[in-house]
Amino acid sequence: MPTRALRVPPDQDLVVFGATGDLARRKLIPALYELSSQGLLPRKGDVVGTATGPLDDEGFRLFAKESVMEFGRGQFEERAFTAFARRLRYVPALTNPGPKLAKVLKLPRRVVYLAVPPSSFSPILQELKDAGLARGSSIIIEKPFGHDLASAKRLNQALHRTVPEERIYRIDHYLGKETVQNLLVFRFGNTLVERIWNRDVVSHVQLTVAEDIGVENRGHLYEETGALRDIMQNHLFQLLALTCMSPPSSFDPEALRDEKVKVLQSIRPVAPAEVVRGQYTRGSINGKTMPGYRELEGVSADSDTETYIALRLAVDSWAWAGVPFYLRCGKALVTRRTEIMLFCRDVPLHLFEGTGIEALQPNRVTIRIQPDEGISFSFVAKEPGPLVVEQGVRMDFSYGKSFKTEPAEAYERLLHDALLGDHTLFIRQDETEFAWQALQPVLDQMPEIKLYPAGSEGPAEAQNLILSGAWHRLGHHTDD
Ligand code: BG6
Repeated sequence: MPTRALRVPPDQDLVVFGATGDLARRKLIPALYELSSQGLLPRKGDVVGTATGPLDDEGFRLFAKESVMEFGRGQFEERAFTAFARRLRYVPALTNPGPKLAKVLKLPRRVVYLAVPPSSFSPILQELKDAGLARGSSIIIEKPFGHDLASAKRLNQALHRTVPEERIYRIDHYLGKETVQNLLVFRFGNTLVERIWNRDVVSHVQLTVAEDIGVENRGHLYEETGALRDIMQNHLFQLLALTCMSPPSSFDPEALRDEKVKVLQSIRPVAPAEVVRGQYTRGSINGKTMPGYRELEGVSADSDTETYIALRLAVDSWAWAGVPFYLRCGKALVTRRTEIMLFCRDVPLHLFEGTGIEALQPNRVTIRIQPDEGISFSFVAKEPGPLVVEQGVRMDFSYGKSFKTEPAEAYERLLHDALLGDHTLFIRQDETEFAWQALQPVLDQMPEIKLYPAGSEGPAEAQNLILSGAWHRLGHHTDD
C-alpha cells in the first residue's frame, strides 16, 4: 500500500480472463481507464481481454468505451480514452487461447486477472502452463476462494502448481475501500483510540454488511454461493481481522498479514447453534416491490440458499477474550449500510441516578464504511439548564466534509497495487484457509432457513443471538 507519491508500475502486460463479463464491465475496465488517465499504468504494456465472445480488438475497444461511459466515476474524456484504447487487445477464448495469448503478449512480465467463475480457474491455470505463460505471470483471483476448507486447499494447491504464493493476489475488494484502510490509521495512528480498543473497555462488537438490493439477475450464480460464502467468509471476516489485529511490527505487507492471520486463527470454530440463516420473500423497499428470492430466474422453488446470515463468535486472543462479536450480512434489507460498532462497557457506578443516564447507551465507536463514510463517538452530556439531565450526543468525522473528495474506487487501488507487486491489501493463503476453518462447522451442519420479507431487518430470530443488548437498528440513522 503506497504511503508516498503514487508510482508508475514497471513495464508489463495485463491479461483479463472474463473481459466481457459483469465484473470487467462495471469495475475493471473503468478502473483501468481511470489509472490510465492518471498515468498510473505501466509505460509499456497492453491490456489484453479474453472471453468466449467472438470479438476483435476494435469490438473490444467499443465494449470498453461503453463500459467507461456507463460505469466510470469521473467525466468521460475522449482523448484520455483514445490513449487508453491503444493498449486494448482481444483474444477470443473459445478453445485453447494459450498459444494465441503467447503470440500477443510481448513483454516478459504480466498480471493475469481471473474474472471468471471458480469452475474456470483450473482450466485457465492449465492453459497458462501449457502455453509457457506461467513464468513471468502474477495471478489475480476473485473470491470466493473455494466453497469450503477442503476446496480452498485444493484451489491453493492448483495455484501453487502454476505460480508461487508471492505472485498470487487474492482480491477482496473491501480491502481496497478507503474507509477500510482508514481503520488501520485510526487505530494505529491515534494514542487515545488504541487505549480503548480491547476487552477492558469494549463489551461487544457488531459488524454489519447490509444491502438494500436483492440478488437481481444473479440468481443462478447465487444459488451456488449464499451469504456465508459471498460476504461472511471474506468481506466480514476481513473487517473482523482488521478490527481485532494487534499492531504490526512495521507497515510491511507480510507483517500486516501475519497479524491478520493471528486473528483468523484465534476465531473459535463457529457453532451452528450460534448462527441464523435467512432468505428474503416478496416485500417492498423504498416503496418499490421486490420479488422474493425463490421467484428469481435460476433459483429453485425450494431453494435452501441463504440471502442473510447472522452469527456470534469469539476471538480467543489476549486482547479480545470474552468479548462477543456479532456479524451479520444480508440482501434486500431495509437499508444499505456497512459499519463496525464497538460498544463500550458501562460506567462502574451511576452517580447521576434519576437523570435518565441509566437508560442511555454506554459509549460507542462507529466506523461507517459506507455510505456516509466516517467515524463517530457517542457519549452522554448534560443538557443545558439548572437540572442535571443527561442526553446522548456524538462527535463525528465525515470523509465528505473533512476531505471534500470522493473516495477512489476500490478496484483502482487494488489493480495499481498488484501491478506494483504490493501484497498488503490482498489475502494470503493462510488467511483464507483459517477463515474457512472457523466456518466449517456451520457448513457441515447448516441451520434451517428463516424467511424474512424484503425491506425488513432480516429474520427476527437473529435477535436471540445477542447475549445482552440488541442489534443496532438498520432502519435508523447510524448513530440513533
Ligand atoms: C460482492 C458480492 O463481493 O460485494 C456482492 O459478491 C455484493 O453480492 C457486493 O453485492 C457488495 O459490494 P459493495 O462494494 O457494494 O459493498
